[in-house]
This record gives sequence, C-alpha cells and structure tokens, in this order.
Amino acid sequence: MVGWGTAVPDGRLTNADLEARMDTSDEWIVERTGIRERRIVGPDDTTATLAVSAATDAIKRAGLAPADIDLLIVATATPEQPMPHTGAFVGDAIGLRCGSFDVSAACAGFVYELVVGASMVHSGYEHVLIVGSDTLTRMVDPYDRDTAPLFGDGAGAAVLTRTADDTPGLLAWDLGCDGSAASILHVPAGGSRLPASADTVAAGDHYMKMQGQEVFRRAVRAVVESAELTLDRAGLAASDVAWFVPHQANVRIIDAAASRLGIPPERTIVNIERYGNTSAASIPLALFEGVDDGRVRDGDILLLSGFGAGMTWATALMQWGAR
Ligand code: ACO
Repeated sequence: MVGWGTAVPDGRLTNADLEARMDTSDEWIVERTGIRERRIVGPDDTTATLAVSAATDAIKRAGLAPADIDLLIVATATPEQPMPHTGAFVGDAIGLRCGSFDVSAACAGFVYELVVGASMVHSGYEHVLIVGSDTLTRMVDPYDRDTAPLFGDGAGAAVLTRTADDTPGLLAWDLGCDGSAASILHVPAGGSRLPASADTVAAGDHYMKMQGQEVFRRAVRAVVESAELTLDRAGLAASDVAWFVPHQANVRIIDAAASRLGIPPERTIVNIERYGNTSAASIPLALFEGVDDGRVRDGDILLLSGFGAGMTWATALMQWGAR
C-alpha cells in the first residue's frame, strides 16, 4: 500500500440524539456496543462522493496521477444505485478510464478487495486502487433501535503497487462465506427476488433486518477461525502480529475475538466509539488512523479481519511498508 486516504461526512449522530428519537440510552449503547457517536451523510453526500474523497487522497499520497491507476475496485453494500456499479461513478469523478468493478461482501468487503487487488498486481497491473465505502445510514430504519445505533458512514482507500523486488506485502489470507446464514443480516427488497414496490416500502422491507445475537455469535467464531487459519498459512503466530485491525462492529465482538486469539488490547486498533460500524470503510478507517498517528510502523505485521452479511468473512495478514 503506497497511498491511502479516508473520508467521513461532517454530520454527527450522538447517543444523546438517539435517546431523543427512540427508547434507548447512552449507557445501553456504550455498554453493549462501545459506540458513542457516528458520522452520517447529509443530502449532498453518497457512497460515491465519500469514495471519491478517500480515493483522491490515496492517489495523491502515493505520488501518482489518476492516469497511473490500472484498475479500480470499490467494495460496498450500499451502492450508488442498482445499476451501474458504484465504481463507474467514482472512476468518472476522479477521471479514470481504466477497468472498474464493485465487490459486494458487506463488512468483509475491504479485505476481499485487498486480496483481489493484490492478485491483480501479481498478475501484471502496476497500480490498483481499492476503495471501501458505505452509507449504511441510508439503509437502516432511523427509528429501529436494533440497528440504528450501530451504523455510520465513511470511506477508506488505498493504492496497491508492485514492490521493487516483488516481496509480498500480503503474506496470507482467507476468504469465506456461509450463505446459509444470509437471512440473519439482509435487506429483503430492492433486488430481483423482491423488487421495490409501494408494498415493500410500506412493509419497511427496503431497510436492513438483523438478528443481532446470531450475528454476534457467528462473527466471533468466524474471525477467530479465519485468523488462526491465515496465521497458519503464513507460518506465523498471534505473537508475531504487531496490530490486529478488526472490523469495527461491536467492541464486545472485538474484545472476545482478540482475547481468544491471544492478542492484547494494546495491540488492537479500535475507533468504533467515534464512527460506529461503517461496513467496508471500517477496517481502512482504523488502519489508516493507526498509520497516521504513528502506531503502525514499517515492517509491522498486521492482521486485518472482516465479517459481514452473507455471512462473509475475510482475513488478510500483511506487512506494512513492504516496498
Ligand atoms: N437500547 C436499549 N435497549 C435495547 C436496544 C437499544 N438500542 N436494543 C435492544 N435492547 C434491549 C432488548 O430489547 C433486550 O431487552 P430484554 O432483555 O428486556 O428483552 C436487551 O436490550 C438485550 O437485547 P439483546 O439483543 O440480547 O442485546 P445484545 O447484548 O445481543 O446486543 C447488539 C445487541 C448490540 C445488536 C449485539 O447483538 C450485536 O452487536 N450483534 C452483532 C451485530 C453486528 O455486528 N452487525 C453488523 C455485522 S457487519 C455487516 O455486514 C453490516
């Protein structure tokens, strides 16, 4: 990764705002999730505008121009519209004419596109731009206390580049999906199975439905098993990991997974209290915060771990600063 950028909208939704809107409390939300506030898009922002902002910074920081980018991948569960793909809007706004496509793997999306992007670099592309961007606040019922407290909006982007001596920056990975759990976290309407109609809107089927406890249980198991498999594939142990960068869905999921892996809190990057769950943006928002404030240093082994609707999961073990 030779360039990176993040973007969050200006709007803030605090726990106090939610208390005024529904039957909940700051105490419940902080204790059960670790979240204190989230950033939410206003009328002028979308998944693509956040993605463009993060991607523009990433290209600049890499010392490149848009014409240098060979491929754009956008991971999102909240696409700009059903067709065309979000990458079309993002690429056009940046001035790209290279190939682009979207990855749909919910909150595991950034790790999925990292693995695919790195493979494309190994296949011959020089610079691959990956962007995780989501505006889940546009898909949750703002009055549903099961989901509204959890989600926020944001984007994170990185430019992947071939290393000078082809030393791999990505050391090992694991991608998985158990589609039998599709119904525990989903948006029922708006696709070919249940096209949008006045009835689906009246029933609220355009909003996310979630069985929180079941997602929680499966998430901890998936993160731990996938991380252990990935470490095994690289011939490394949890003690070799300088920073665990998990998907920021719930601080209790993060704590449970880290503790089972034997990674202490001081080696885990957590910023959920300020952003909530930003889906495909959550891992880059945490990772690049750690890079920018100096916690992550060249040579550090990073364990990135995502999980989400599908149910998908993805782990990437990478070495920061490999050039
Ligand atoms: N405020 C106050 N009370 C609430 C709220 C709320 N917002 N929501 C639920 N409660 C109440 C419930 O009614 C219940 O009350 P009862 O005991 O009187 O019946 C009590 O709190 C406990 O409810 P649970 O659902 O058991 O709460 P839990 O501890 O499981 O926490 C939560 C719920 C936070 C949703 C948790 O299950 C969770 O984080 N699950 C994982 C969700 C997740 O990670 N989703 C994203 C996946 S990534 C992606 O792809 C988008």
